[in-house]
Amino acid sequence: MKITVVGAGAVGATCAENIARKQLVEEVVLLDIKEGFAEGKAMDMNQCATLNGYDTKIIGSTNDYNATADSSVVVITSGIPRKPGMTREELIGTNAGIVSTVTENILKHSPDAILIVISNPMDTMTYLSVKSSGLPKERVIGMGGILDSSRFKFRLSEAIGCSPNDLQGVVIGGHGDTTMIPLINHATYNSTPVTNFLTPEQQEHVVKETMVGGATLTKLIGTSAWYAPGAAGAFLAESIVRDQKKLFPCCVYLDGEYGQSDICIGVPVIVGKNGWEKIVDYKLSDSQQTQFNESADAVRKMNSVLSEMSLV
Ligand code: 2OP
Repeated sequence: MKITVVGAGAVGATCAENIARKQLVEEVVLLDIKEGFAEGKAMDMNQCATLNGYDTKIIGSTNDYNATADSSVVVITSGIPRKPGMTREELIGTNAGIVSTVTENILKHSPDAILIVISNPMDTMTYLSVKSSGLPKERVIGMGGILDSSRFKFRLSEAIGCSPNDLQGVVIGGHGDTTMIPLINHATYNSTPVTNFLTPEQQEHVVKETMVGGATLTKLIGTSAWYAPGAAGAFLAESIVRDQKKLFPCCVYLDGEYGQSDICIGVPVIVGKNGWEKIVDYKLSDSQQTQFNESADAVRKMNSVLSEMSLV
């Protein structure tokens, strides 16, 4: 089995490395437009095989899509990352053209692939992939909610003073600084509501820090984060390849679920070998549904740029 990761930048390379470490497949193809870049990163990763104990081969390719043929899963990370002070939305002009071309090229060589979209603005890039590919909606999944939920659980663990691995929590809505919705009332510390352990001020702080998680890192590092985004991409790929039927929030195409249609946005889904297999209804409260609708409005506004660019 083969997984392709398009874009050998920090996120793509970290994703490829995590896939290799998990031994999900025999072969990972890393593709980039920059001459020799993917080949170099692949060589470096292959030289970790005996150190990290994996047999997965990583194959680097400079924009030769023949190397990606018959991939089961393709992770799209291509495009420019944000710089400090930028929103994910500001990347749309550059990244939409890139993601559209990548989707087209990938499907010529791997018509049965399941696509994982990481490129930003992620909700709009996922929508673009669904629309431009004509693929069944179940085969296109945006990764954002897994990343945001991981950041949420980490922030909760700091506030409570416990292991993040003892926490359950999800972030739904858009993958944007103002559009994501950390569902703190649904989060638990081994089945006990986290709200039992935190003051309202602490809860508000955790939610705020989660929402600006990516921006905080971009300010500190000088570019967009990559460890957690890359790991989240591999985590999602694992649920597909191993048919784990994991339940986590991902950005998927809605057709009436959560009161929204013709949009890709984060909702809880079950993911297995066929892509996302079921949308789970969390029965949002009225105020959560209002927040979700506002998030969808913002994502839809962003999606309208795609029609202005004649991409959908
Ligand atoms: C982030 O939030 C890359 O969008 C990604 O770090």
